[in-house]
Parts: sequence; C-alpha cells; structure tokens
Amino acid sequence: MAAESHLRTSHSHGMASGAAHPYAPRPFVVRARTQETPDTVTLRLLPREARDRLSFHGGQFNMVYVFGVGECAISISGDPGHPEELVHTVRAVGKVTNALAALAPDAVVGVRGPYGRGWPLDSAKGRDLVIVAGGLGLPPLRPILYEIFRQREAFGRVEIIYGARTPKDLVFYEEVQTWRHRTDLNLQTTVDAAGRDWYGDVGVVTTRIPDARFDAPNTSAFVCGPEIMMKFTAQALAQRGVPSDAIWLSMERNMKCALGFCGHCQYGPSFVCRDGPVLPYRTLAPLLALKEV
Ligand SMILES: Cc1cc2nc3c(=O)[nH]c(=O)nc-3n(C[C@H](O)[C@H](O)[C@H](O)COP(=O)(O)OP(=O)(O)OC[C@H]3O[C@@H](n4cnc5c(N)ncnc54)[C@H](O)[C@@H]3O)c2cc1C
Ligand code: FES
Repeated sequence: MAAESHLRTSHSHGMASGAAHPYAPRPFVVRARTQETPDTVTLRLLPREARDRLSFHGGQFNMVYVFGVGECAISISGDPGHPEELVHTVRAVGKVTNALAALAPDAVVGVRGPYGRGWPLDSAKGRDLVIVAGGLGLPPLRPILYEIFRQREAFGRVEIIYGARTPKDLVFYEEVQTWRHRTDLNLQTTVDAAGRDWYGDVGVVTTRIPDARFDAPNTSAFVCGPEIMMKFTAQALAQRGVPSDAIWLSMERNMKCALGFCGHCQYGPSFVCRDGPVLPYRTLAPLLALKEV
C-alpha cells in the first residue's frame, strides 16, 4: 500500500495513461543534438510511440537509459508548454553521461519519468523572483523561465543571475543573450575566471546578489548549481532578508529506483527522488551546515 502511494506521488505529473511497469523505460528517439560546451550537449528527444509523450513541471527529472550502458537522472531542460518534445542537457562526467553525450540523431534511448517535485512557481506569484544558476544549474531552471515569460504579469521584479567557471562553460549562450534585451527582467552573468575578451562580470554568483534588485521579504528565490554554490547563495539571500521558506534549492543525490523505494538518494529525512529534488532552504539549512550527509 505504501509502495503504491509512493508510486502515485512519483508519477503524479505526466506519466502517460495506461502506464506499464514503473521501471520500464519507454523508447525515445534523438531528434537533434547541440554541443553546448566542450563537455555538455543538449538532446531533443521524441517518443517513438505518440502515447509515450510526457508532460512535466519545471524542476522534474527523468531516468534516461542508454541501452547496454546504464541509466542516470537527468533534469528536463525544455519548455513545459511544448511537451511533445523532451529536452535534456547532459554533462559528460562518467559512464552513462559520456554515452548520452556521444549519441547521434536517430539513436534510441529509454526514458522513465518524469519524477520528483519541481519548482513551486505558483507560490511565487505576486512576489519578486530571483533565479540563480551556476553552470549546469541553468538547464533545470530553464523550464520555469519559459513559464515566467508566458505569465510575466503574475510576478513582480525578475532577476536572473547566471554564473559559470569560464565563458566557455555558459550553456544556452545565444538564448541567454536574448534575455539580456528584455526590459521586464534583469540579467547578470558572471564567470569565475576569464580572459580579456570577456566583457561581463568576474566573480562567483554570490558577489552579484548585493546588486540584485528585489524586495527581500516579498521575494521567492530558485537556486540550482553545485551544492557549495547553492549553500552560499542561499545564505546571501537569507542575509538580505529573503524568508528561508521562500528559497528553494534543487538537490542532487545518486539515484537508483527514483521511485522512493531503495533509499539511495536519502538526504537527512528526505528522499531526493520523491520529496525533491527541489526542497526549501528552511529544511536544507541544517543539513548543508554539516560537512557530509
Ligand atoms: C535530480 C537530478 C538531476 C540531474 N540532472 C542532471 C542534468 O540535467 N544533466 C546532467 O548532466 N546531470 C544531471 N544529474 C547528474 C547525473 O545524474 C550524474 O552526473 C550521473 O548520474 C553520472 O552518471 P555516470 O554514469 O555518467 O557517471 P559515473 O560513472 O557514475 O561516475 C563517474 C565519475 O564522475 C563523478 N560524478 C558523477 N556525477 C558527477 C557530477 N554531477 N559532477 C561531477 N562529477 C560527477 C563520480 O563521482 C565518478 O567519479 C542529475 C542528478 C540528479 C540526482
Ligand atoms: S532513488 Fe530510490 S529512493 Fe530515491
């Protein structure tokens, strides 16, 4: 019974009707591949069967399976308004992600999901919004940026802070440049280190928070990036007065089942696959203060 209710939670968004076994991956075909940075690619996938089309919320992830290699958790980086296509942005760091990054158009992968709880965008309506992304933290935030642009009048000021190690590590580079021209948001981009050809800011993302324009008590913040970056960003936002239950971070832990069964992804009292990956800083702060959990 408990297992059944976990299953329903994990599949509460978008699993196609008539779903088969929850562990069974569905075949998706690589329609296009874009090299974002030297080690990161974006894959656009189409379901081989139209009935396997997935709808999703920004911040959710899929388990993506490379046949004969294995599977891993990858956030969905596409537009929830266009669920006919599944978009994943992958950094090649190990066995599965290297195999994913090497896929060519027409290759077939297995996909199960979407899993987890995404960004609570409805809770931010009527408030100022600060979106902070570090490196590959931008792909899991991109789906809600599309939602925010569609419903722009529902939010107050929107501040986007995007940082990476070097200019060549910035993903979706051309799309990010188009946000710079929008008058209904403020975009700050920064890199940790750059040559003379970089005209943007230099410094970690936390150094951009004092310049961000928002009314702290009436602000919601969505933060994604390396854990250390999220920890210091959340601290800086809290110091400026953003309530800790309005600061949300997307956590990464090793996944196996992604269904709340195996416990592999346990982080303190939470299973990241089932209760996250997006969790409030109020719950995370004591865990992030510990050296390793
Ligand atoms: C909820 C969630 C969402 C995720 N979204 C994305 C996403 O959108 N795009 C994406 O590319 N990845 C994402 N990841 C991370 C991804 O799942 C891991 O990088 C992947 O499991 C690594 O598998 P592998 O077989 O390639 O590496 P493995 O062969 O298992 O590991 C090889 C080596 O790489 C190291 N390693 C593993 N993961 C990382 C990492 N993330 N960074 C640096 N070193 C690492 C390991 O410690 C090991 O030494 C997400 C993870 C979670 C939990
Ligand atoms: S991955 Fe199995 S409980 Fe989360």
